Amino acid sequence: MAIRKIARMGHPVLRQIAQPVADPTAPEIRALVEDMVETMIDADGAGLAAPQIYESKRVVVFQAPPDAAVNTDGEEGYDATAPLTVLINPEIAIHTETMEDGWEGCLSVPGLRGVVPRPLQLSYSGFDLKGQRLERRASGFHARVVLHECDHLDGVLYPQRMTDLSKLVFESEFKHLLAAQSEPSAETSPKG
Ligand code: NI
Repeated sequence: MAIRKIARMGHPVLRQIAQPVADPTAPEIRALVEDMVETMIDADGAGLAAPQIYESKRVVVFQAPPDAAVNTDGEEGYDATAPLTVLINPEIAIHTETMEDGWEGCLSVPGLRGVVPRPLQLSYSGFDLKGQRLERRASGFHARVVLHECDHLDGVLYPQRMTDLSKLVFESEFKHLLAAQSEPSAETSPKG
């Protein structure tokens, strides 16, 4: 296992459409995932996508801890939290037309945060390292981090999803902003 360098906004690998993984059980995929998890935890992220460590493959890791799941009442059948999850070749189906604003950060866009509208009721599927199919319904923080990470597989960074660039701010100014106005809570801010 190794902590890997994280690609930053501007590197072409972050703009590519990542390639599907032919065999989720392959040893090199397990090694890649181990590095992704170690890198994500070291960087204090909620998620990481393989292109962020220069591997253009359709693999994401993420977690949605309970203490981050504010503003979600646990709509029936949807889960706002998730344990550490490995998702290979993910697919997403959106179940709502309502977009919800929330703060996001990204390990590839260090030092910044932005308000991103996302549809926060969805189901996703994919494969784990044993090649077993995983399917879940997600809401709240869980849905947001899945959308953010899967965007990386299609070459999209969160600023491209923003509709109001006045809400792209430096992390270091964040507390001043929250003090000055009523904004979505900082606790709904996955960094991935
Ligand atoms: Ni990110």
